[in-house]
Order: sequence, then C-alpha cells, then structure tokens
Amino acid sequence: MKSKKVLVTGGAGYIGSHTVVELLQRGYEVAIVDDLSKSDQMLLSGIEKIAGKKPIFYKGDCCDKKFMQTLFKTEKGIDCVMHFAAYKSVGESVQLPLDYYRNNIGSLVTVLEVMKENNIQDFIFSSSCTVYGQPDHIPVNETAPFKKAESPYGATKQMGERILEDAYKTGLRIISLRYFNPIGAHPSALIGELPIGVPNNLLPYITQTATGKRDKLTIFGDDYNTPDGSCLRDYIHVVDIADAHIKAMEHLSKLPPGNVCDVFNLGTGVGVSVLELVKKFEKVNDIKLNYVIGARRPGDVEKVYADPEKIRKALGWKTRFTIEEALQHAWQWEQKISS
Ligand code: NAD
Ligand code: WQD
Repeated sequence: MKSKKVLVTGGAGYIGSHTVVELLQRGYEVAIVDDLSKSDQMLLSGIEKIAGKKPIFYKGDCCDKKFMQTLFKTEKGIDCVMHFAAYKSVGESVQLPLDYYRNNIGSLVTVLEVMKENNIQDFIFSSSCTVYGQPDHIPVNETAPFKKAESPYGATKQMGERILEDAYKTGLRIISLRYFNPIGAHPSALIGELPIGVPNNLLPYITQTATGKRDKLTIFGDDYNTPDGSCLRDYIHVVDIADAHIKAMEHLSKLPPGNVCDVFNLGTGVGVSVLELVKKFEKVNDIKLNYVIGARRPGDVEKVYADPEKIRKALGWKTRFTIEEALQHAWQWEQKISS
C-alpha cells in the first residue's frame, strides 16, 4: 500500500523538525516547506542523520501563493498538511505587529486556499496555550474562553483558530493542537531548539547560562500566588508534541470525509514552577546555575497548565518523556551546538 504523504510547513524549525523525524521513522513520505527565515540547514541534516532518509525540501515562503501552487502541483498526492510555519516571538510581535499578522495569518490562509484547490482535506494547526491568557480555572480545558490576547503573536493564534472554525465548513478536516511549553530536544542530540539572539524562553536561557554564554538567569518574579512564588507552567517534551501530530493525523484519516474541526490541549497536566524547573535542571545535569530573582515580566501569566484528558481519550495520546529527560536532552543539545 502507498504510504501517506505529509506536507510539513516550517519543517526546518524546532517542533517541525522533530515531527518530520517521527513521520519518517513511521514510514510516512514527507515534504518540507520552509523559508529558513527562523531556522538553519543544520536541522535538515540532523533529520536525515536520525531518520536515515532525506526528506524532500522546498525553500520558500508559504505566503507566496504562486510558489505554493507550484509546490502542490509538483508534489502530487499530499494527504495531510501540518502547518508549523509562523513567527513565534512574543516580544518581537509587539515590535513588528504587521509582520506577524502578515506572516502568521497570510501563510495560514494561503495554505488553506491551495489545499482547497488541490482537494486536500486534512490539516493540523500549531496553536498555543497563549490563546487562554490567564484562565479562570486550572488545569484549563478546551472549553475555557479566550481572554484578550496579550500580544500580536497571541492574537494570530486566536485568529488562526477562528479562521479554521469558518474554513472547515468547506469540506476540511482540521485539528488545532494547543501546545503548552515545549522543551527538550531529540534524544540523539542531532536536532533541537535554535533560538535567534537572546532567548525569550526559559529553557534555552537556562542552557545558555549553563554554558557561560549568558552571565546569569533572571527569574521573573517570586511574589506570585503560587507555592514558591514563581510562575507555574506545563513543560512538555518536544518529541511528545511531535507524536501527538501523528496521532491527530491518523485520527482524522479515519473520519468520514469533510467538515471536522476539533481542538486539543497538548500538555502534561502538571504545573511546574520556574524555580522547580531550575532546581531539576541543576540536579539531573549536575550543574550549578547562576540565577537571581528579578522583577515580574510584563504580560506574564501567573499559572497555567493543561487538562490533557480530551486528547488522552480521543487520540490515546500520553507523554512518554519525563520532565527530567527533557532537561537532560536540552542540555545535551546545548552542549553540542556550543562546542
Ligand atoms: P520555529 O521558529 O523553530 O519554527 C518555525 C519555522 O517556520 C521556522 O523554520 C521558520 O523558518 C519557518 N517559517 C516561518 N514563517 C514561514 C513562512 N512564511 N514560510 C515558510 N516557512 C516559514 O518555531 P517552533 O517552536 O518550531 O514553532 C512551530 C509552531 O508552533 C509555530 O506556529 C509556533 O507559533 C507554534 N508554537 C510554538 C511554541 C513554542 O514555544 N515553541 C508554543 C506554542 C505554539
Ligand atoms: C516560562 C516562565 C517566565 C525566561 C511563551 C509564549 C507562549 C508559548 C510558550 C508560543 C515564565 C519565566 C522566562 C527567563 C524567567 N509560545 N522566565 N526567566 O511565557 O510561558 O510562554 O512560550 O505559543 O505563547 O508566551 O514561556 O519560556 O518565556 O517563560 O523567569 O529568562 O519562565 O516568567 O514564568 P511562556 P517562557
């Protein structure tokens, strides 16, 4: 039987590259489209080394409709599109809001239009827990209302989901996955996160501090209403996120044709504080980290973690990696890229 073909937009990025590896290892055919605006060829060669196969790669912009139309014509027989391509920096989105709306909304609409032209139904969207803001109840489930987005980036994820709620009625089968805080790297240390400039996210800041690339980590606030005063998040291994995409795609392919739009949280269900994460990192990697307590970061949510029951029940997905493993894998990757 012919294996399914999956188009992975943003497949040269952090989460996309891990998903491509899982797809190739499970026998799927994969084509990547990425403009490499926020990534590096290094992840493409890492994918090939792990999977022992070279994925088809198209360098180009998903907002460019002519380019995408040509891609779909050349790459016949695509069964599913996993759409990772987007800009993701919250801070940058405040500085460059129009770039974020143009890229994140433009690429989404363009990909959906070209899918329709080619009668491709199945679509997986990278959404985010950012759509919830500070939820009224935690663990938060998928029925919680959206709060006003704190940033243009957050707004693009809310709008993205809204666009999909309308677009699926034209005969698409769509799943949006709301990732909580992806961390870690592939256990082989051949692919991982490649932050551009000074990292905004906690774990790359921790690993760069551990190598000495950054002087110290500042913990943004210890006066929150949480057990140790620092913020609570739901940190999830990137390979578990990749696995959920494949389960979501396989689930869609079993449904009757057309008109499906569903959304799932993708988190562990466990809230971990910033201080706990730092201490776990020190312990599992036997490292002393230089950190100080600083002021709160504007716009930060106090506490958020997922209720993952819906995805467990519907897709049979559960995490395979512990947070300790994620911290070890992130450190192994950081040592590799900084050596
Ligand atoms: P990333 O920046 O590593 O990967 C995104 C990839 O998309 C990059 O390789 C970039 O070059 C590419 N890209 C961006 N715009 C493009 C365009 N117009 N055309 C073609 N390629 C384009 O980010 P990531 O962490 O892998 O995130 C993947 C997706 O998951 C994004 O949609 C992001 O918003 C979402 N997400 C990420 C997180 C996180 O913390 N990493 C959390 C929730 C949701
Ligand atoms: C985690 C915790 C910080 C850096 C962001 C996006 C969200 C989603 C996931 C894409 C917070 C604290 C951080 C530092 C710190 N991405 N921290 N010192 O803010 O939960 O979410 O990534 O969709 O949209 O907003 O993740 O990793 O930035 O922060 O103390 O140097 O670590 O205050 O409590 P966040 P993060």
